[in-house]
Amino acid sequence: MTDFKMEAAKTALQFIKPGQTIGVGAGSTIANLLGLIAAESNLSASLSFATSSFKTGQLISQHNFKLIGNEQVKHIDIYFDGCDQFDAQLNALKCGGGIHTSEKIMASLADEFILIGDASKSVEKLDATYPLVLEVLPAALHLVNKWLSVFMPNAKVNMRMSTQKDGAVITENGNYLLDVFFGEVLPLDKMNALKMVPGVVEHSLFVGLASKAIIAGEDGVKILEPKHYI
Ligand code: 5RP
Repeated sequence: MTDFKMEAAKTALQFIKPGQTIGVGAGSTIANLLGLIAAESNLSASLSFATSSFKTGQLISQHNFKLIGNEQVKHIDIYFDGCDQFDAQLNALKCGGGIHTSEKIMASLADEFILIGDASKSVEKLDATYPLVLEVLPAALHLVNKWLSVFMPNAKVNMRMSTQKDGAVITENGNYLLDVFFGEVLPLDKMNALKMVPGVVEHSLFVGLASKAIIAGEDGVKILEPKHYI
């Protein structure tokens, strides 16, 4: 059976030029891409890497690639990342990892942000399968919960809890994560506006950031660009 995530990674590799600084997010497609880069020793020796993900950082170290610390990253040529789902305009939901704040910083810092994955990620319109994740300052937890209950009363809000220890998941920034299930798709600008609630550090919807998506499926590999409706 064809490994579609590997096929997408192979096409992504073709976008990388010697000497570039490459940003990478989390997930199995990214791990495939790093493995392919490692097989090209001249290329890999010339590259610098930055990552939004602890796990991917470990992988970069195992490959002995040059890793730039997040606070030192001034410029990224291409940022590659997976997602849970993206729509025809390449607006993406990145919910599973809970690291969307650093992912969004890297995607915004990069000259180009390319989504990679298998074709199951591609939908015409985002649906309600995945929650919108809010990274919330601890001091704002009650305010944000109250705001959601007043202005989005149909939303189901779950604080993300650790499965490995008693207590909430704490982000690398010392904050909480709230998984917000809307039950129906809200207009993207309404979801995007949640950033304006005091104490919401960042949410997991990436609007207008990706310039390409490389996806592989039964129809082969496709390189998609944002579809704009007039
Ligand atoms: C998590 C993400 C990951 O990038 C995504 O889940 C990775 O997917 P895959 O393992 O299919 O490459 O956005 O929020």
